[in-house]
Amino acid sequence: MAFSLYTLGGLVLVVGYLIQQLANYIRVARFKKQHKCEPETQIPQPERIIGYKLYKTQMEASKNKNLLEAGRQRYIDNGNTWSGIMMGRKFINTIDPENVKTILATNFKDFGLGQRQESFGPLLGQGIFTTDGAQWEHSRALVRPNFTKAQVADLDTFESHIQRLISKLPRDGSTVDLQPLFFQLTLDSATEFLFGESVNSLTSQEGSEQEVFGRSFDLAQAQLGKRSRLGKLVHLFRDKEFDQACKTVHQFVDNIILKALERSQPKDAEKSIDGKGEKERYVFLTEMLKSTRDPKQLRDELLNILLAGRDTTASLLSNTFHVLARRPDIWAKLLAEVDQLHGEKPDYETLRNMKYLKYLMNESLRLYPVVPGNARFANKDTVLPRGGGLSRTSPIYISKGQVVAYSTYVMHRRPDIYGPDAAHFRPERWAPEEGLRPGWGYLPFNGGPRICVGQQFALTEASYTTVRLVQEFCGLESRDAREWVEQLSLTMACGNGVKVGLVPREK
Ligand code: HEM
Ligand SMILES: *[C@@H]1O[C@H](CO)[C@@H](O)[C@H](O)[C@H]1NC(C)=O
Ligand SMILES: *[C@@H]1O[C@H](CO)[C@@H](O)[C@H](O)[C@H]1NC(C)=O
Repeated sequence: MAFSLYTLGGLVLVVGYLIQQLANYIRVARFKKQHKCEPETQIPQPERIIGYKLYKTQMEASKNKNLLEAGRQRYIDNGNTWSGIMMGRKFINTIDPENVKTILATNFKDFGLGQRQESFGPLLGQGIFTTDGAQWEHSRALVRPNFTKAQVADLDTFESHIQRLISKLPRDGSTVDLQPLFFQLTLDSATEFLFGESVNSLTSQEGSEQEVFGRSFDLAQAQLGKRSRLGKLVHLFRDKEFDQACKTVHQFVDNIILKALERSQPKDAEKSIDGKGEKERYVFLTEMLKSTRDPKQLRDELLNILLAGRDTTASLLSNTFHVLARRPDIWAKLLAEVDQLHGEKPDYETLRNMKYLKYLMNESLRLYPVVPGNARFANKDTVLPRGGGLSRTSPIYISKGQVVAYSTYVMHRRPDIYGPDAAHFRPERWAPEEGLRPGWGYLPFNGGPRICVGQQFALTEASYTTVRLVQEFCGLESRDAREWVEQLSLTMACGNGVKVGLVPREK
C-alpha cells in the first residue's frame, strides 16, 4: 500500500514536470514565432552539454596570451554571431553592431551585469560599476554630474605627477619599461582627483601606508577577473590574501573619508574641505559630500571609479607607446604637431584641437581597445535582431539568464567596417575626409545609458601625457623586437611591457 502511494506520488511529480516542460516549450515556440526568430550558428563542439573542450582551449589560449586572436579566428570561421557551450553555460557571441546596440541601448532594460556584484562586491561594494537597476541609476545620478569639462581640465595638478614620471625616465638612452610607470602615474592622478590626496606611488617609499595601499589595490583587483570567471562557484573559495588586501584598501579609504567628513560640516559643505587656504582644487570626494554623507556609499563610489579609471588610462598609454616605439613614421608626425606648440604646455582646448593626436588615440583604441570584450545577461526572454537562419540575418532568441558576450577587439578589426587595411595601424583613417562612420562598430567607451563617464577625463589625461613626453623627448626607440601580445586582466595592456630608449631634447 505504502509502496504504491509512493509510486503514485512519484508519477504525479513526473507528469507535473513534463506538463511544465511542455508548457514552457510551447511558450518559447510562440515567442520565437512572434519575433520571427531563427536558430543562430552553433560552433562545432564534440559535446554541447558541458563544453569542456572549449573551456580547455580557452584556458590554453589564455596561457599563451592569445585569447583575443583565438577569438577572432572563431568569428572568421563561424560568422559575426554564434553560440557555444562552455562549462555548462551557453554563450551567445557577437560582433554585430546591431546586436551590440540592442543589448546596450535599444533593449537596455532586458539585460544586466549578471554576477558582477558577487565577484567584485568584496572589494568594490555597491557603486556605479557593480550595480544594476534602481541602485545603479542612483549611483549614476550621483557620479555623472561631476565629470563635466571643468573637472577634467585640471591639468596643473596633473602636471605635477607627470614631472615625477619624467624624473624617473633615463636621459642616457638606457632601456626603461614605460608600462609600470604609466600604471603608477594613473594611480597617482586618480587618487588625487578622487580623494584629494595622491598616494604618489611614483615616489613613495616601500612599506609606506600609500605604497601598501597601492599594492593591495593591485592585488585585490587582479583577483577580480579570476573571481568573475568562477561565477557562482566563487563562494566556495576562500582567499586570505584577497580578503586582507580588501581590508587594507577599505581602511585606507575610510580614513580619508572620515577626515573629509570631520572637516566639512554639512552647513559649510559648499566650501572647500581643503582648509589650508591654498588654491581650490576640484576634489571628487568633496563634491560627493554635498549629496551624501554615508561613509560606505562614499567609499564604494570612490573605489568603483578608481577601478574603472586607473588601469584603463594606463593601458591606453602603454598600448599607444608600444606602437609609437615601433613606428617612426607616426612618431615623426606626432612630433611635428606637438612642436607647433613651441614648448608651451597645452591646455584643454589646445589638446582638443590637435588633430593628429586625436586620430592617434582613436586608432590606438580601435586596434587595442583597453576593454576588449564584455558581456550582458538577459533578465527576461528577449531577442537580438541579427544572426539567425542560414542567411544569418534573422532575429535570434535569447532566453532569460542567457549570456551575450561581445568582442570589441574583434569588431574593431572587421574589414567590412574599416576597409581592407583594417589590421593596419593608420591614424589618418579617422580624418573626416576619409568618411569613416563606424557607428556602433566603434565602441571603446561603450554606448547607451552605461557609457563610460570618464571618457573625456581619460582622453585628456592620455593626450596630455603624450604631448608632455614628446616635449621632453624627441626620440623614442623600441628595445624589444617582439610583436605586441595581450596582457589581459580587467583591461588589456602589453604582455611584454613597453621597453624603450628615449632621447632627451637639447635644452
Ligand atoms: C581609456 C580609458 C577608458 C576606457 C577605454 C574606458 C572604457 C569603459 C567601458 C568600456 C565601460 C563600460 C563597462 C561596462 O559597462 O561593463 C566603462 C565604464 C565606466 N567608466 Fe570608463 N573607460 C576609461 C577611463 C575611465 C576613467 C578615467 C574613468 C573615471 C575617472 C572611468 C569611469 C567609468 C565608470 C564610472 C564606468 C561605469 C559607468 C556605468 O556603468 O554607468 N573610465 N568605461
Ligand atoms: C558633483 O556631484 C554632486 C552629487 O554627487 C552634486 O551635488 C554637485 O553639484 C556636483 N558638482 C559639480 C560641480 O558638478
Ligand atoms: C574618435 O574617438 C572619439 C572618442 O572615443 C569619438 O568620440 C569619436 O567619435 C571618434 N571619431 C570618429 C570619427 O568616430
